[in-house]
Amino acid sequence: MTQNQKPYVIKPAEGKLGIMLVGLGAISTTFIAGIDAIRSGRTKPYGSLTQMGTIRLGKRTEYNIPKVCNFLPLAKLEDIEIAAWDIFEDDAYVAAKKAGVLDYQDLEAARPALEKIVPLRGVFDREWVKKLDGKYIKNGRTKMDLANQVMEDIKTFQKNSGCSRVVMVWCASTEVFTPIEEVHKSVKNFEKGLESNDPKIAPSMIYAYAAIKLGIPFANGAPNLSVDTPALQELANEYRAPICGKDFKTGQTLMKTILAPGLRSRLLGLSGWFSTNILGNRDGEVLDDPGSFKTKEESKLSVLDTILQPEINPDLYGNVHHKVRINYYPPRGDAKEGWDNIDIFGWMGYPMQIKVDFLCRDSILAAPLVLDLALFIDLAKRAELRGIQEWLSFYFKSPMVGEGLYPEHNLFIQEMKLKNTLRHLMGEEPITHLGTEYYNI
Ligand SMILES: NC(=O)c1ccc[n+]([C@@H]2O[C@H](COP(=O)([O-])OP(=O)(O)OC[C@H]3O[C@@H](n4cnc5c(N)ncnc54)[C@H](O)[C@@H]3O)[C@@H](O)[C@H]2O)c1
Repeated sequence: MTQNQKPYVIKPAEGKLGIMLVGLGAISTTFIAGIDAIRSGRTKPYGSLTQMGTIRLGKRTEYNIPKVCNFLPLAKLEDIEIAAWDIFEDDAYVAAKKAGVLDYQDLEAARPALEKIVPLRGVFDREWVKKLDGKYIKNGRTKMDLANQVMEDIKTFQKNSGCSRVVMVWCASTEVFTPIEEVHKSVKNFEKGLESNDPKIAPSMIYAYAAIKLGIPFANGAPNLSVDTPALQELANEYRAPICGKDFKTGQTLMKTILAPGLRSRLLGLSGWFSTNILGNRDGEVLDDPGSFKTKEESKLSVLDTILQPEINPDLYGNVHHKVRINYYPPRGDAKEGWDNIDIFGWMGYPMQIKVDFLCRDSILAAPLVLDLALFIDLAKRAELRGIQEWLSFYFKSPMVGEGLYPEHNLFIQEMKLKNTLRHLMGEEPITHLGTEYYNI
């Protein structure tokens, strides 16, 4: 154990933590049911780094490897209160039943906890999610009015639930792709746009604006821009709100960021990577729209380039055919299947192939990420971190980074960055894995 002074003063996790979810669909309801099941001892928090992960401290010879939740002052699961917005009126039990992720037994066991969560009316505009037509929505003369209504929702929830802190996590549908426009470039332009109903301001940006204005941390689980604009980053710095995104790293992209670093480490060349998916949940239906798919495609395609860095490895990765397809196939429901065909080459250029068939469950992979992100952005807030939290890249397909930086996609570098940030926050030495100290003879 080092004797370093703690560089950060982290306020204790006193009182309850409110987690406000935007969207009460497959992921959110699976998350809520899981929290209930863990709290009542019916299951364990599989897949959650905050609950089951460990972190080595000091030298290997010390064998000091506490659980992450024992090392850090994180909010306890018993202290979590949940609220959600949606554009359909179904409570979390009905929504979970429709999502079809959980089996009958798990659904019924969590029924009382799920039925308690009745959504708040959402901020919605069909221009941004063409495949949905929810009518349970807020009305406002301007987008600024809508943002103010979201702020009122947050304050009311915090008051009624008695939470001392609140975080917001976007678990709603993927919005249509938009590049960064003038209105997204500064707080001044953005606020003018809210007042004048600028069509380039998406509902997700309105929620994010409302959260940040109240200094509330915001995590974006979908690939749409949302908080990933200069305007909202400027606001987050000003209002001391930690922010992170985009797009939960689950399923096929998770596999990609596990496999690609291994190929690169062994200098195995890549000539092509073809990925296709079938899925039949509402997310799949939304992604059937070309606009929403484009947002997702951008997010999924970007990972290989930054891991393989073709510009510095042209012989190995200069000519890669990378294709990603998502096919909406209702019979499959939430049980997605993702196929990867990977064409690689080795010594003397001899070709080889890797085939991956991942029969995954999207929401089962995503739910623990919601938990970890909610707890970590709350920790970040209490440690007085603000703006982009790059150390949470571990959880995202398109990690947000500061201007001029490229994102780190390699899962193992992301994990090291995350754990070293946790050590740093707690005044522990970062671990470099250099190891020379063991051999000083
Ligand atoms: N499941 C995964 O592994 C995974 C991975 C990465 C990203 N994502 C993204 O997470 C999001 C949620 O996934 P899901 O499977 O739960 O989807 P889902 O379709 O089951 O749930 C989304 C919910 O959001 C609601 N919604 C849409 N627009 C809204 C708005 N403006 N305000 C409030 N509610 C709104 C919908 O009515 C729906 O109930 C999607 O954007 C998806 O692309 C999922």
